[in-house]
Amino acid sequence: MSYIPSVVVSNEQVSENYYILKVRTLRKLVKKPLPPQFSMVWIPGVDLVPLSYADCSNRLVTFFYKVVGEGTKNLSLRKPGDIIAISEPVGKFFTDIENPVFLVGGTSIAPIIHYSKYLENFSGVWGVKSGALAESLIEKFPKLKHLSIVSEDCTIGFCGKLTDHLDKLRLSSNTTVLTAGPPEMVKAVCRWIKNLGVRSYVIAETIVKCGLGVCGSCVINNSLLCRDGPVVDCSVFW
Ligand SMILES: Cc1cc2nc3c(=O)[nH]c(=O)nc-3n(C[C@H](O)[C@H](O)[C@H](O)COP(=O)(O)OP(=O)(O)OC[C@H]3O[C@@H](n4cnc5c(N)ncnc54)[C@H](O)[C@@H]3O)c2cc1C
Ligand code: FES
Repeated sequence: MSYIPSVVVSNEQVSENYYILKVRTLRKLVKKPLPPQFSMVWIPGVDLVPLSYADCSNRLVTFFYKVVGEGTKNLSLRKPGDIIAISEPVGKFFTDIENPVFLVGGTSIAPIIHYSKYLENFSGVWGVKSGALAESLIEKFPKLKHLSIVSEDCTIGFCGKLTDHLDKLRLSSNTTVLTAGPPEMVKAVCRWIKNLGVRSYVIAETIVKCGLGVCGSCVINNSLLCRDGPVVDCSVFW
C-alpha cells in the first residue's frame, strides 16, 4: 500500500475526546477518496489507525476522530507542522444511493460528513452522547442539519438513544438506509429494518490491521472489510 507523507495543518479538539484533523498531503492522492472509503493513518513510531475520510479537497484531507486508545491519543497530540502519513483510499466506495437515510451513532458520523459533500438530499438521525458535540460539528459542517439529532444528555433534539426513536421514522419503499455506529446500535437498527422491505446497509467497522487484504483481521461474514467493505448488507447483523 502506498503511504503519502502529510503535514498536519490543524488538529482541533471539538468536544471532549473528539478532534478534527486536517492534513496536507505532500503529493496528490492517486485515487480520489469517495465515501465511505477510509485511510490507514500512520502515526510515526506509534501505530496505524483506520479512519474514514471526512473530506478531501485537492491535497487537504479531513478526518474526524475520537480518542479511544494509544494510537488516537498520540494522534491528538500532533501539532501543526508535524508529519504523519496517510494511505490511498481503502475499501470500496458506495455512492449510487436512492433516497438515502442515515442512521448513525457517535463518531460514525465521519463518513456521513464525506457523503454530505456528494449528496444533495439526504435525511436521517444522528445519535450522540452529548449535544455539545452535535452543535460544534453542525457549525463546521452545516449540511449535517439534514439529520435529526438524538442526544443522551437531552441538550439538543430528541432525548435518549437513537434506537429509542426508530418507531417515529417513516421510511418509503424506495428509501436506502445506511447505518453505522456501535455494534449494539447497528444490530438493533438492522433487526428493526428487517421487515420493512427497504434496502439497508451497514458502514461496518472491524479490527483493521494491514488494510491490504492479507492479514485476515477484518473478516466479516466471509469477506474482508478492507477489500470488500466497508459497506455490507444489513442482513449480516440480523
Ligand atoms: C473502516 C474503519 C473506519 C473508521 N473510521 C473512524 C473514524 O473516522 N473516526 C474514528 O474516531 N474512528 C474510526 N474508526 C475506529 C478507529 O480506527 C479506532 O478507534 C482506532 O483504531 C483505535 O485505535 P487506538 O490505538 O486509539 O486504540 P486501541 O488501543 O487500538 O483500542 C482501544 C479500544 O478500542 C477497541 N477498538 C479498536 N479499534 C476498533 C474498531 N475498529 N472497532 C471497535 N473497537 C475497536 C479496542 O479493542 C480497544 O478496546 C474506524 C475503524 C474502521 C475499521
Ligand atoms: S485488515 Fe488485513 S485483511 Fe483486512
